[in-house]
Amino acid sequence: MNIELTPLSMADIDADIELIIVVDKDTDHRFVKDKKLLKKAAFGAAQDEVCLLVSKKHIYVGADSLTGVDIRSAAANAVRALKGKKYKSLKVATYLNKGCTYTLRAMVEGIILGGYSFEKYKSKPTKQRLKHITISLDEYNKQPMDIDKAALQVHKAQIIADATNFTRDIVNTTPDDCYPAVMADIAKHLAEESGLKCKVLKPKEIKKEKMGALLAVARASRHTPRVIHLSHTPKNPKAVISLIGKGLTYDSGGLSLKPADYMVTMKSDKSGGSAVMGIMKAIAELDLPIEVHGFIGAVENMIGGDAYKPDDVLVAKNGKTIEVRNTDAEGRLVLADVLCYAQQEVKADYILDFATLTGACVVGVGHYTSGVMGNSEAMKKRVVQEALNAGELATALDFNRHLKKTLKSEIADICNISNTRYGGAITAGQFLSEFIDEDHADKWAHVDIAGPAFVEHTWAENPHGASGVGVRMTVKLLEKIAENSAH
Ligand code: BES
Ligand code: ZN
Ligand code: ZN
Repeated sequence: MNIELTPLSMADIDADIELIIVVDKDTDHRFVKDKKLLKKAAFGAAQDEVCLLVSKKHIYVGADSLTGVDIRSAAANAVRALKGKKYKSLKVATYLNKGCTYTLRAMVEGIILGGYSFEKYKSKPTKQRLKHITISLDEYNKQPMDIDKAALQVHKAQIIADATNFTRDIVNTTPDDCYPAVMADIAKHLAEESGLKCKVLKPKEIKKEKMGALLAVARASRHTPRVIHLSHTPKNPKAVISLIGKGLTYDSGGLSLKPADYMVTMKSDKSGGSAVMGIMKAIAELDLPIEVHGFIGAVENMIGGDAYKPDDVLVAKNGKTIEVRNTDAEGRLVLADVLCYAQQEVKADYILDFATLTGACVVGVGHYTSGVMGNSEAMKKRVVQEALNAGELATALDFNRHLKKTLKSEIADICNISNTRYGGAITAGQFLSEFIDEDHADKWAHVDIAGPAFVEHTWAENPHGASGVGVRMTVKLLEKIAENSAH
């Protein structure tokens, strides 16, 4: 989508259709020109409610407020309603919240995110014809605006929304089209396009690095594993950040096989790794003055004669031994080794990992929210805050010493599952904490994205399927780190 900002007033812009956001049901606002028709159509201007007046070339959408969350969702729903229709160009005014240009960023994100649909496997895809968006500086509350500042927000929004859609495409791709070697190819291609560095470890190198836990998970698959390392390394970086993603291109559960209904959608178990790729793409394009490393453990968890088994004891990269009691708790095994590798390769100021790690997280906080864990209150708080600022939902899930004990093994250093059926998101997080070095302990946060990564209905600016969760929140966090850090 091509997005243009212009000082022209709305009346002077030529476009196939005009988008009008009706804020807080204020149908008397000067932007609302079709009062009678809207009344006839029983348009109540509820959040995300859309009314298309074809003959007037106007599309109306309701937003409860001028906050980024409401405007983003409203814009996305309006664009979604135009899908399959013949409009090629759209014009829209500017909506600021108390003069803040952040709402403009949210609106542009909403337009691009709402325009997304995954049609790769449709023999007759429904085209998104909307290509040109013109935004007038005519503002909802007649507030003056600095066009350069506004243009910067539009530019950032485009990069971030495109990166989110890039992540969505990877996650939505089927397991037979996107297996570990393909993940590595996507990373290499991204590196070439965006000026990142990319190193890929194949099985021989992974063995050399002694990633015994990851290799065990990968063993039964015909698709061999890859460990991917992408890096953005500007001169004089203000901070160094490592991002680690769970990239299970398919999770059948292994010998602790998932029931049929639970296996469907497990192509989405690569969402953490795919989010890391999207974040790296955005960071490179924004050229943030921080050093960012993205590590992805790309593995397929399958069954077969060579499969790893419940009762096996694995040796992770840091030498810790793990008793396997359930082969479906594989993500933490892969992450254990990749976390160790990341810490060996890079001394970071912040470490974040993203994983569709537990069904328990979805049970606990629902489909739309990520669970943020770690040893440091400050780190959890910061991550949650920036997620909310970026328009994602996240909440802290606190560790405790009682749950930690439930991971005890009689025969190895630790078990890969807890001995209690409750608190599964937290025990998984506490398992990971065993693979964080002492000097990184308070610099690490674990984000369980099992809920929002893949949802089988549309919600706000997110489509059916992959949402690209993690991209917006992390880019926002990294932008803040880049602004505030003096290395
Ligand atoms: N990939 C799943 C977690 C998951 C479940 C993600 C639902 C998205 C939606 C993970 O590998 C898994 O299977 N976890 C088990 C852990 C259990 C065996 C301790 C789970 O959550 O049931
Ligand atoms: Zn699993
Ligand atoms: Zn999994």
